[in-house]
Amino acid sequence: MITSLRLKDFKNFVDETLHVGPFTVIVGANASGKSNIRDAFRFLHGVGRGYSLAEIAGGKHEAGWKPIRGATNEMVRFQAGAEISELDRFSLEVEMKSDRQALSYLELGDNIRYRIDVCPEDSSGGLSIADEELWSDSEEIYTTKIFDEPNTLLNRSKPALCLVPSILRDIGHAAGPLADVLAIYSQADRRSQGATGVARRLNSMRFFDFKPDHMREPAFPGQTTLGDNGEYLPVVLRKICTDQKRKAILTSWLRELTPMDVKDFEFPDDPSGRIHLVICEANGAKVSANCASDGTLRFLALLAALLGNDSALIYFFEEIENGLHSSRLHLLVELIERVTSDGTKQVVATTHSPEMLSLVGDSTFESTSVVCRLEDTNEAIIRPVAELPKARELRKTQGLGRLLSGRWMETALAFAEGNGNDPEHPE
Ligand SMILES: Nc1ncnc2c1ncn2[C@@H]1O[C@H](COP(=O)(O)OP(=O)(O)OP(=O)(O)O)[C@@H](O)[C@H]1O
Ligand SMILES: [Mg+2]
Repeated sequence: MITSLRLKDFKNFVDETLHVGPFTVIVGANASGKSNIRDAFRFLHGVGRGYSLAEIAGGKHEAGWKPIRGATNEMVRFQAGAEISELDRFSLEVEMKSDRQALSYLELGDNIRYRIDVCPEDSSGGLSIADEELWSDSEEIYTTKIFDEPNTLLNRSKPALCLVPSILRDIGHAAGPLADVLAIYSQADRRSQGATGVARRLNSMRFFDFKPDHMREPAFPGQTTLGDNGEYLPVVLRKICTDQKRKAILTSWLRELTPMDVKDFEFPDDPSGRIHLVICEANGAKVSANCASDGTLRFLALLAALLGNDSALIYFFEEIENGLHSSRLHLLVELIERVTSDGTKQVVATTHSPEMLSLVGDSTFESTSVVCRLEDTNEAIIRPVAELPKARELRKTQGLGRLLSGRWMETALAFAEGNGNDPEHPE
């Protein structure tokens, strides 16, 4: 599983690390940088998918990949009064623990660390890889520093670096011109194994932004995984319902999560062959997806994503409480904590909901972070809430939600950074 994400000079972070757990919750005021963290994960996901930097940043229409927010030169942190120069770069680094699903069959250490440094290109307005590193435990198994060595085959001048694809794309898949050249190095196998393991893990992420209108649409059969906006919901649910056990789990969660007494689903097709979704209640009422409530569809999509055939290992949900009634949030938290409890799947969610925050269990509390923009700066910092002074105590006496809604977290964080008043003794 991924255990941390470090962002250096990426968007509004100078050098910050997000601690990542089974269920990672990110809170913070508007424009603090929560979605910038999602952008960083998406960037790495694009690298894991083997896309070029131009595709990651600008979009890859045929693969349904949307551009990362902002132009390429907006990913590097703006520095007051300074133009973006070729010396500027941002760096993203992930650490992961070996696990059964992604890495353990490889002969690698317990902790794998991958870092990619990216800089804007001088002329084209694009991006290029400036440096890449792969570590297994404390052993470096790949670094582009070899490019700096004089008189080697790999000595290239900086502008040519843009031609070098990520190690995850070319060495991880043992293809491309670099693989041959690297074969002369005795560690080539370990590099290839490390790159494959990291690429697999980064590739295995999903970023959902559910849109009820997309979920209402009927879908052609064949899709087994949900679209990013919740597309193909009817066919994904139909597939889940072919397994009686999973269908029972799905309906019981939906009964709990919504006031509907859901007994069954129907999936009629129309003359064009598209599958529709109909929810059947115990009293005989049938509700088509077309007139089901937004919240019901959101719950269904969440269930389809987390209980369905999707083989992803990391799920990112923005403002996960959107459209859901606060009285149902405890079930949402319970569902995610249960799904992530064995360490196979990880969920990262941003939220503005104090109610939801109050409901997280002890383990999730340890992986809850607050993002905060320090006063009079454009920079944001990320801190585990549990590390704020007296946070554990106050969580017990007041509840975490109150600490969020009363802006205690920001005040405590500013104070801990030597930048503000003690939240216990405000002036
Ligand atoms: N390259 C950059 N350098 C410095 N700051 C940047 C850069 N790109 C974006 N930002 C800052 O990041 C902010 C946006 O952050 P983000 O979208 O992550 O906020 P958020 O926490 O998700 O807010 P909300 O809760 O409103 O969605 C912008 O307002 C801008 O100040
Ligand atoms: Mg946001």
